[in-house]
Amino acid sequence: MEYALEERIGNPDLFTGRNEEMTYFLKWINDIKERKSQSTALLARRKTGKTAILERLFNITFFKNDGVIPFYYEIKENEMWVGDFCQDFFLTFLYQYIAFKSRKTNYLDRDKRNSLKEAKQAAINEGLDHLTGVIENVEYSLRYKRVDMLWNTVREAPKTIAKSQGEFIVQMIDEFQFLNAMIFRDKDMKIPAKDLAGGYLSSAESKIAPLLISGSWVGWLMSELNSMLPNRFKYEYLENMPQDEALEMLYKYSRFFEVPVTEETAYLIIKISEGSPFYTSSILRSRYKHKDLTSVKGLTDTLDFETLDNRGNIKSTWMEYVNTAFSKVNDRNAKRIVLHLFKYKDRELTRKEILDQLKLEMTDEELEKKLEALVKGDIINQGQTHFDFRCVRDNIFDKVFRGVYQKEIEHFDVKDIGREYAKSFEKLKRQYRRLQGKYHSQKGYFAEYLILDQLTYRAGKNNALFTAVTRYLPGDFNFCEYSRVWRYDSSPEYSRNFSVDIFARAVRAEDYSIIGEVKSREVKKFSKEEAVTFERKFAEVRKHENIERAVGFIYSRCGFTADAEEYCKEKGIACSDDERWINFC
Ligand SMILES: Nc1ncnc2c1ncn2[C@@H]1O[C@H](COP(=O)(O)OP(=O)(O)O)[C@@H](O)[C@H]1O
Ligand SMILES: [Mg+2]
Repeated sequence: MEYALEERIGNPDLFTGRNEEMTYFLKWINDIKERKSQSTALLARRKTGKTAILERLFNITFFKNDGVIPFYYEIKENEMWVGDFCQDFFLTFLYQYIAFKSRKTNYLDRDKRNSLKEAKQAAINEGLDHLTGVIENVEYSLRYKRVDMLWNTVREAPKTIAKSQGEFIVQMIDEFQFLNAMIFRDKDMKIPAKDLAGGYLSSAESKIAPLLISGSWVGWLMSELNSMLPNRFKYEYLENMPQDEALEMLYKYSRFFEVPVTEETAYLIIKISEGSPFYTSSILRSRYKHKDLTSVKGLTDTLDFETLDNRGNIKSTWMEYVNTAFSKVNDRNAKRIVLHLFKYKDRELTRKEILDQLKLEMTDEELEKKLEALVKGDIINQGQTHFDFRCVRDNIFDKVFRGVYQKEIEHFDVKDIGREYAKSFEKLKRQYRRLQGKYHSQKGYFAEYLILDQLTYRAGKNNALFTAVTRYLPGDFNFCEYSRVWRYDSSPEYSRNFSVDIFARAVRAEDYSIIGEVKSREVKKFSKEEAVTFERKFAEVRKHENIERAVGFIYSRCGFTADAEEYCKEKGIACSDDERWINFC
């Protein structure tokens, strides 16, 4: 696939999972052509993976080139004069539009966004003369500083152009809440614009250029949307990743950044991160000098660094957020309230309980205001009713917050937090051991990743052993050097979505590539139906990847049914259930 827009995640291969969300939003984008899609707000705390999703949606939509034009704009958390903002917004849109229509991705480079004059020339060069009228309108309002007119024109531009051309545009606006908070009417940044978002009242209803906005300040954004743009947006909440996706992501980062993990530490990392792509990537990419993620001690120390040290990515990210949020409700009581709620992880507290237990000297009304502000800033959560409150359920955020404030307020020893991690890991280790027990073996809970490692690092060098423990390989087969060893996911732009656990592409054309499936089930043997399904996927991957020599391979921990075995033998699909595939050291 072509990655027209450079994604912030870095190497495009690092993007993992989000299958449910990608399928949903790709259909939503496709449905725009039938005018079925309603403007939607994608809500989640910062660092949940919203930008990663939006940028990938942009690239897929751009690449598909199938009747919907993608527009992506991120509103920055920097103060900006409305004139500069409008120009940046408009030029981003223009160049993305020109890039899409001309199929020239170099229009997306950042240095292209300087002047309207150049943009107009580019439009003319590409035969898109219909853009010149609106560019001239924008030039006019900018020259005479008619900022309201300017915002109207640039905001409506995608819709206006789509309408005049009979086209469809998806407008993805990332971190929408900053539209009202960060843009100023004057160049001295004294008069906040405040109401720019409200301008979308009518265009958010557009079916030819609907909006897909995101927001990290969930509470705040929702209250703004409810008051300024009532009923214009459907809300979708982005959760952390499911375990299988988080695990795949972890192993991918481990391989890509060359940070080894063991099966045990991998288990601990995904459990402690609770599926947060940000925590997982921050642990794997931590700048801690003595980082060693192959031992529990090393992992505990790394997490300590990330949570408690100012250089830790997790701590610095959260503190930046907490500081901005607290600047809106700043005082000692607010911090005490948050700390107090963290003590009751499993239950909600009522306003009265908070007032009494903390002996707060304020009225119930004052407390209500403060709590509301904390909810808006996503520092605490609303409970079942407007009278109940609880802490955010996030084990790592809790420790960052306490690491900074608990000492100040309750004279607490920060080292305790390290001890808490060690205790959680002890508990998780016991869980992990119980799981292993089920497999009657040391390893194998994440069998597919162990096998991917074997193929990458060991199978070629130990060809005799691995061929001996694998049945039905072709006579001239040898394990070899592979240029790529990973899972294979058919791209979501194809309507039929499937994946295989192993796709190892041989470096040399005369060697065999491997396309495989791994099952680490406890009891159920691999069945003939599964073998037939696999055979189909095998053929599809082979065709799609244009591979002449490839062998299908199934690893099933608890073996194969007689039918399946017969079928694989006949079709030449290699089979193994030998422990050495996952226990080799
Ligand atoms: N689908 C994903 N695959 C791999 N890494 C991801 C994914 N989503 C998020 N990440 C990681 O988490 C970090 C935060 O994600 P981001 O999209 O910036 O969150 P948000 O926009 O919600 O603040 C990214 O920099 C990246 O390292
Ligand atoms: Mg983002």
